[in-house]
Amino acid sequence: MSIGVFDSGVGGLSVHRALVERFPQADFVYLADQANAPYGGRPGEEIVDLTRAGCIRLFDEGANLIVLACNTASAIALRRLQQTWLPGYRRETGRPLNVLGIIVPTIEAATGLPWEHEADRRDEQVQKVDVLGVFSTPGTAGSRVFEIEIDKRKQDLAVFSEPCPNLARLIEEGADRETLKAEIEGHAQALKRRIGRFPDRAVLGCTHYEIVADLFREALPGGTPLIHQPDSTADALERYFERHPEYLLGDTGKRRFLTTGTPGEQNGLVAAFWGAPLRFEAA
Ligand code: DGL
Repeated sequence: MSIGVFDSGVGGLSVHRALVERFPQADFVYLADQANAPYGGRPGEEIVDLTRAGCIRLFDEGANLIVLACNTASAIALRRLQQTWLPGYRRETGRPLNVLGIIVPTIEAATGLPWEHEADRRDEQVQKVDVLGVFSTPGTAGSRVFEIEIDKRKQDLAVFSEPCPNLARLIEEGADRETLKAEIEGHAQALKRRIGRFPDRAVLGCTHYEIVADLFREALPGGTPLIHQPDSTADALERYFERHPEYLLGDTGKRRFLTTGTPGEQNGLVAAFWGAPLRFEAA
């Protein structure tokens, strides 16, 4: 049995890498739905259908726990799949299966509070508001998940989302760094105009953006802390496995990379980020 990692494309590799570092003995299977990427501008129902199909593919490959290494799928599809599809599928297969997302761990990291925490709104006087900037796909921004869930837990943290409609596609296509730099600077400035200043902290709320995290660092004032989704996800998964020893991780350190798009060697931006040869097999 293995851990499945799912994304529309190459962005989830950033999460995969952190998980592999944390669980080096575990077997992993990665699925990039590149035939349908990017997800960020698609209607919600399509994102739900594509995410379900990706999960079934990974379960068929022997994964018993899937991490949706995609904010868009986590924001739009995860709850629906957990409530309306997964229980029946689990019964049908008789296997301990689950699907987890990356937004809960990110919000826990951003608030410094466990997910179960709810803000006590009585007599609460907010002294100082920190501003969190969230760069994401239009799908994630439109779901307002960061705004809603953070507001439930922490009233002194204001969230401003900046949708970046082209960025995941440009990264997926391996655009040159000058193009990416201009795009990212444009979004950092747009966010600054909307807030009236730069945010105090930021979330790269699309896993593709982690591949060009250095360009975000350049576009934001020096030292702006970036909440690191891959590490927050690895922390959360570690806690999850402590509570759920029934999930066997595998112990041969096997790694497979599947794509619904064109199989083959990764190059350019992704190869530079990965730092080692990386070959995708046909899903
Ligand atoms: N990497 C994904 C995310 O975290 C999806 C990007 C896309 O397909 O638009 O949102």
